[in-house]
Amino acid sequence: MEISFLMLLVLSLLLFPNGICKGLAARPPVVNIGSILQFNSTTGGVAAVAIHAALEDINSDPTVLNGTTLKVQIKDTNCFDGFLGMVQALQFMETDVVALIGPQCSTISHIISYVANELRVPLMSFASDATLSSIQFPFFVRTGPNDLYQMAAVAEVVDYNHWKIVTAIYIDNVYGRNGIAALDDALALKRCKISYKVGFPSNAKRSELINLLVSVSYMESRVIILHTGAEPGLKLFSMVKQLNMMGNGYVWIATDWLSAYLDANSSVPAETISGLQGVLTLRPHIPNSKMKSNLVSKWNKQSKKSNYSDLRVNTYGFYVYDSVWAVARALDAFFDDGGRISFSNDSMLHDETGGTLHLEAMSISDMGNKLLEKIRKVNFTGVSGQVQFDAGGNLIHPAYDIINIIGNGMRTIGFWSNYSGLLSTVSPEALYSKPPNISLADQHLYDVIWPGETAQRPRGWVFPSNAKQLKIGVPNRFSFKEFVTKDNSTGSMKGYCIDVFTQALALLPYPVSYKFVPFGNGTENPNYDKLVQMIESNEFDAAIGDIAITMRRTVTLDFTQPFIETGLVILAPVKQHITSSWAFLQPFTLQMWCVTGSYFLIVGVVVWVLEHRINDDFRGSVRQQIITIFWFSFSTLFFAHTQEKIL
Ligand SMILES: *[C@@H]1O[C@H](CO)[C@@H](O)[C@H](O)[C@H]1NC(C)=O
Ligand SMILES: *[C@@H]1O[C@H](CO)[C@@H](O)[C@H](O)[C@H]1NC(C)=O
Ligand SMILES: *[C@@H]1O[C@H](CO)[C@@H](O)[C@H](O)[C@H]1NC(C)=O
Ligand SMILES: *[C@@H]1O[C@H](CO)[C@@H](O)[C@H](O)[C@H]1NC(C)=O
Ligand SMILES: *[C@@H]1O[C@H](CO)[C@@H](O)[C@H](O)[C@H]1NC(C)=O
Ligand SMILES: *[C@@H]1O[C@H](CO)[C@@H](O)[C@H](O)[C@H]1NC(C)=O
Ligand SMILES: *[C@@H]1O[C@H](CO)[C@@H](O)[C@H](O)[C@H]1NC(C)=O
Ligand SMILES: *[C@@H]1O[C@H](CO)[C@@H](O)[C@H](O)[C@H]1NC(C)=O
Ligand SMILES: *[C@@H]1O[C@H](CO)[C@@H](O)[C@H](O)[C@H]1NC(C)=O
Ligand SMILES: *[C@@H]1O[C@H](CO)[C@@H](O)[C@H](O)[C@H]1NC(C)=O
Repeated sequence: MEISFLMLLVLSLLLFPNGICKGLAARPPVVNIGSILQFNSTTGGVAAVAIHAALEDINSDPTVLNGTTLKVQIKDTNCFDGFLGMVQALQFMETDVVALIGPQCSTISHIISYVANELRVPLMSFASDATLSSIQFPFFVRTGPNDLYQMAAVAEVVDYNHWKIVTAIYIDNVYGRNGIAALDDALALKRCKISYKVGFPSNAKRSELINLLVSVSYMESRVIILHTGAEPGLKLFSMVKQLNMMGNGYVWIATDWLSAYLDANSSVPAETISGLQGVLTLRPHIPNSKMKSNLVSKWNKQSKKSNYSDLRVNTYGFYVYDSVWAVARALDAFFDDGGRISFSNDSMLHDETGGTLHLEAMSISDMGNKLLEKIRKVNFTGVSGQVQFDAGGNLIHPAYDIINIIGNGMRTIGFWSNYSGLLSTVSPEALYSKPPNISLADQHLYDVIWPGETAQRPRGWVFPSNAKQLKIGVPNRFSFKEFVTKDNSTGSMKGYCIDVFTQALALLPYPVSYKFVPFGNGTENPNYDKLVQMIESNEFDAAIGDIAITMRRTVTLDFTQPFIETGLVILAPVKQHITSSWAFLQPFTLQMWCVTGSYFLIVGVVVWVLEHRINDDFRGSVRQQIITIFWFSFSTLFFAHTQEKIL
């Protein structure tokens, strides 16, 4: 009995050299995960509290990681100083952790993504930078919103309000630039564009920000999209009010940094809020659920414990909480499959010894690939909704709340979901059960109170105060001055074409500044081909006049609809038409009448010569004979002179 037990033990040791019963013995009592955050930022604080809250829940839940304690090591890094943050993050990578939550900032995420790939540590990142992708970095798992979708939502809002051009202000770092690039693409799909882009460094001085805002105010667009972090963004907004750029006609759209800040900070000064009246912002959509309200109610206790008593939970808190749960569930599945945690030294890094960075201290997570596979397959309902990754490593069903800041709070005026790609007042979850309805007629948002306390949707642009005048070439005609010519007394241009132009401008809902430039010296008609050439060569922006639309000209220029149209015609001179009782004389000229009259006489005389010798009717006194001649001539007009009648 004892021998057989010993035999069994030896056998099992032979079969499983790593432990007696793999499934159970392989479960380590403690598993470490790491996190890279900036403690003194809002998002960093919220993330730290969320991580601790999640760990507490996971470690007290017997259904997940039973018997194993999940621990976290959090590293404080500096996001604003790229180099310092990088070094701090790299040093932290010497710690043996199975997965990493964060890094919080996109700049460091880019660096750490390379490291995570090499060390095979899954990166549960909530960086929104759209260029971080799991194609380039397989170990990058995005557990938060992607700016690609946020910018699509912004573009949809712009398009919904019929604005065509926007100004983009962004923080000049990886996060800001890539966000604006995504916005550019999203707007292009809607046939809108960014007409002015301006970045500023995170440590910009007041005077620089004021110059920036003044340059923005000179621009045509009044729709301003602000993509920055919370601290620089609020600094900018405080100056916007002073420069009177939060008044009627302006539209401000802040990306999700603003809602994240307002959600999290429980002590936002009243003047900050009053300076944001009418601003639109976005917030990643988190459906209401029991889990969500549980976390919210637990939050106060948890934040006090982590020394962040003034922070409330925002969307990032929910996403981070779910990331930790995703790791825990993946680890659980990994241990169920008999996985073991081990690290080995990286031979590539070994060769680089001698430096002071101690890179050789970093070690490769041997089971990284398997754990990553488990993480990608997680499927559970978390506080942020369904946690499940699509093929591209993004959370499924991205959606955003569209928020209008009014009074001392935020009002949700609608939702955008990638599922339909449209704005709607119906919450996105209600749509998922139905096939997507992409009918544009369905687009609807609740009314917005715009800056300046108006419900009237701003036009979105003004005529820029530093705009050049349009230079309009006008032919200075010598003949047919009714069309267009220079008025000698006033020096201005006048004529039918000018009248049509000014009437058409009066119908536009906005002002256009222009000046007429006479073309030609007024002593001869100018050469119209030359005028057309001057528009092609940009000497004139446009031309007005009796310019014929010819095939050759339409190749290079755009013409208006013709406003003097002739078609094919024959021209003939017209004489004054006199109506009188003598009008019957008009068909023939005087000579013609004379000739006709003399022919009558000649005919009469000839007939008399031939007839008077033999015909009694042609005899008598001279007077009678002359009367007969005239009578005969005129009678030929009215009588048919048959033989009986004459003879
Ligand atoms: C956070 O700390 C860093 C130094 O670690 C400092 O440069 C930065 O200004 C601080 N930010 C805030 C919002 O206090
Ligand atoms: C909340 O906002 C105020 C004013 O901007 C700031 O002084 C404070 O540090 C913020 N609190 C947190 C926790 O970020
Ligand atoms: C957790 O493990 C303990 C013993 O380690 C066991 O008694 C308990 O049933 C386990 N719970 C679950 C839900 O598996
Ligand atoms: C909170 O602050 C107290 C006192 O400063 C400190 O002892 C404690 O370790 C801090 N807790 C955390 C989670 O940082
Ligand atoms: C890895 O390298 C460190 C020193 O760089 C050394 O202390 C450790 O023993 C090495 N581990 C293995 C498994 O080779
Ligand atoms: C994920 O879980 C939901 C229910 O919780 C289920 O309907 C769905 O089919 C699952 N998806 C996958 C890919 O397993
Ligand atoms: C977003 O929508 C597009 C188009 O409908 C689709 O191709 C894409 O997979 C969606 N993305 C996610 C993360 O669901
Ligand atoms: C989409 O919504 C519109 C308006 O509510 C409706 O008329 C149309 O039938 C819907 N289309 C589909 C495919 O459900
Ligand atoms: C306008 O002035 C030019 C010379 O300055 C002159 O030749 C022309 O006849 C004038 N036209 C009219 C309509 O007075
Ligand atoms: C006026 O311009 C025409 C060409 O358009 C030129 O032939 C003519 O000589 C010019 N007359 C004067 C007085 O300059």
